[in-house]
Amino acid sequence: MVNQERLWQRLMALGEIGKQPSGGITRLSFTAEERAAKNLVRQWMIEAGLAVREDAVGNLIGRREGRDAGAAVVLAGSHLDSVLNGGNFDGPLGALSAVEAMQCMNEAGVQTDRPIEVIAFTDEEGARFRFGMIGSRALAGTLTLDELEATDSDGVRILDAMRQAGLNPAKISEAARSKGSVHAYVEVHIEQGKVLEQAGLPVGVVTGLAGPLWLKFTIIGQASHAGTTPMSMRHDALVGAAEILQVIEHETRKEERTVGTVGQFSVFPGGVNIIPGRVEFTLDLRDVDADTRQNVELRIRQQARQICDARGLALDVQVLQDIDPVHCSVDIQNTVYEACAALGLKAIPVVSGAGHDCMQLRDLCPVGMIFVRSKDGVSHHPDEWSSPEDCAAGAAVLYHTLLKLATV
Ligand code: GLV
Ligand code: MN
Ligand code: MN
Repeated sequence: MVNQERLWQRLMALGEIGKQPSGGITRLSFTAEERAAKNLVRQWMIEAGLAVREDAVGNLIGRREGRDAGAAVVLAGSHLDSVLNGGNFDGPLGALSAVEAMQCMNEAGVQTDRPIEVIAFTDEEGARFRFGMIGSRALAGTLTLDELEATDSDGVRILDAMRQAGLNPAKISEAARSKGSVHAYVEVHIEQGKVLEQAGLPVGVVTGLAGPLWLKFTIIGQASHAGTTPMSMRHDALVGAAEILQVIEHETRKEERTVGTVGQFSVFPGGVNIIPGRVEFTLDLRDVDADTRQNVELRIRQQARQICDARGLALDVQVLQDIDPVHCSVDIQNTVYEACAALGLKAIPVVSGAGHDCMQLRDLCPVGMIFVRSKDGVSHHPDEWSSPEDCAAGAAVLYHTLLKLATV
């Protein structure tokens, strides 16, 4: 029923945009690459018979009317931006599955009661500004002008990047949807883990998502001559940071599901013969349980403070983004199971370790996700891959899920 070949060809064509020599994809928000990706998907939305527009934050939206144009809309989609040197499925599969489902409905002449909108959210990953889910925050009405002050590695603020992309940051509130205007949000996404592969199943039904907390640690010591400063007289920011990294690993490993990652690390001034005077690093800390994550965070902060005090170092910890864990709607989960059953697919419940745009919509509407099996569980890496058959299975489950959700 869904056109596997068409979906796959589109995925592969989109994967040419932002392709790196490594074969990975870098498509950061508000760049020419992201613009090109949106333009291409816009064409496919038009081919699918959708009415296309972009909102005040650059979310690309394709609408298919229902019998009742005034009814609350069903939203389905994902994002087109990537991490640095990421894969071709994280995001694009969800957006293109939703386009495919809409095209199939039009080809089959199916009518729904509610309108359905396909959405490609602006900047889900947060790779450029260390602050993500920009499009979904705007849609939920929670994005603030203060948050648009966050900068990329060249010092460009989100505000500036939006202006360069032809958007007016003062108008972000126009992207917000009112409560009651959105009936549900559903997203197809690759699992990015190994549960489905180990179970031998193409799709899974997401029960909940771990909440990411992103912190930036800055440790200030005393830069000085590496040859003339005795070991007992140093305030080496890097050695202090190294101790904190050990604490992060130790404290996260005490918990069953908590994960902590230091993915960016900078040493200043960065000379072979200079004692590091300043170190900056990020921490990405996640758990499906908010209390557990908070306890781990507190333990890390306390011990980091003690380490710095003992070494005569100054410590600053800045919150880059703090997203609570989310439970998916049980009604939507049941609808996805019914869709799987209609297709003769067995599906199992899965938890998302990754963050997704639906987290921002939690107070706007019920949210749900359909996961597609990932090869070797690899993601945020050029080797990310899901088979054409599994991608089509995800799109088919989405088709049936949307049909049901869009029926009054
Ligand atoms: C996005 O993929 C995230 O979970 O960081
Ligand atoms: Mn994603
Ligand atoms: Mn991702």
